[in-house]
Amino acid sequence: MQKRVLGRDLTVSAVGLGCMGMSHAYGLPADKKEMTELLAQAVDLGYTFFDTAEVYGTEENPHDNEELVGAALKPYRDKIVLATKFGIQFDKNCKEVNKPLVPDSRPQVIRASVEGSLRRLGTDHIDLYYQHRMDPAVPIEEVAGVMADLIREGKITHWGMSEVTEDTIRRAHAVCPVTAIQNRYSMMARWYEALFPVLEELQIGYVAFSPLANGFLSGKYGKDVVFDGIYDYRSMMPQFTSDAIDRNQELLHLLHSMAAEKNATPAQISLAWMLCKKPYIVPIPGTRKPDRLIENMKSSEVLLTAQEVEAIDKALDNMEMSAVFGGTGISK
Ligand SMILES: NC(=O)c1ccc[n+]([C@@H]2O[C@H](COP(=O)([O-])OP(=O)(O)OC[C@H]3O[C@@H](n4cnc5c(N)ncnc54)[C@H](OP(=O)(O)O)[C@@H]3O)[C@@H](O)[C@H]2O)c1
Repeated sequence: MQKRVLGRDLTVSAVGLGCMGMSHAYGLPADKKEMTELLAQAVDLGYTFFDTAEVYGTEENPHDNEELVGAALKPYRDKIVLATKFGIQFDKNCKEVNKPLVPDSRPQVIRASVEGSLRRLGTDHIDLYYQHRMDPAVPIEEVAGVMADLIREGKITHWGMSEVTEDTIRRAHAVCPVTAIQNRYSMMARWYEALFPVLEELQIGYVAFSPLANGFLSGKYGKDVVFDGIYDYRSMMPQFTSDAIDRNQELLHLLHSMAAEKNATPAQISLAWMLCKKPYIVPIPGTRKPDRLIENMKSSEVLLTAQEVEAIDKALDNMEMSAVFGGTGISK
């Protein structure tokens, strides 16, 4: 697979693999043996960028995903870039499927988190360490200072932040250079395009999470789909309701017709659209399925011209669309 550079010097595959859904948010955790094989297959296919977080798991095993990813990728550790995240917990008192997030980036908490992640990932360093969400109680300068210390100590080599705004990026970068942000981005969630100028000015990469709008943009989910109401966040995502499927017909039509034109699939068009838009965007679609792993990887071979990307943007600007899942709330 082609490579991209995040920030000044972090080289990753053009498409990364989001590992969250193997343990969290998309139903009960997947079979460990199957996921271990899938992760090995990903390395074989040329994926070198793997995304996890300390909180991807279940109530029974809150760190399931880091343990899975660490063990499965251990044989390939020197060939890959491992990204994980700190700074949130879930509000366990809430009965909703998507429990509110409780941010906590106090320096002593980050210190404990990094040691836990290193142990579970079975590594002596993390290649890209993100603050999962801003903590209103801890100034970002203080967090950036801890990151600078962790880099000096060799525990992490690069850092970034997730779901951040321009002001936070600037303040953080002034203390310790930021390699990448990881924000939501897809054809249905384009609100962070306003960050492109600051990312270009400061040479910071954009890792796009939920790049398929949680799978919706693959065009493979219809009105008959039913998601588990206890373990699967998609059961409450607005883009999967029956009404949304009706309201998104124009979007689905655009994806299918571009796909036919380019001899590709709708999921590949969704990913190629962002890959062809900016050289510093790296989508990290998640999947549990080997055929989709290949499909998503091959999106890096689908070429859209600047005019085609612009025409898609214009069509997206003007079409009716349902709401899309915008993230889990922050606990006050
Ligand atoms: N920083 C943050 O706050 C944050 C938040 C959310 C996610 N993330 C990261 O971003 C990664 C990706 O985001 P995401 O998983 O939320 O959303 P996504 O990548 O947009 O969608 C994943 C969903 O789409 C399905 N899918 C994937 N490829 C497909 C294809 N080619 N055709 C049909 N369906 C396909 C998957 O189902 P199957 O498994 O059945 O294929 C899965 O349910 C996560 O794994 C995680 O690492 C970060």
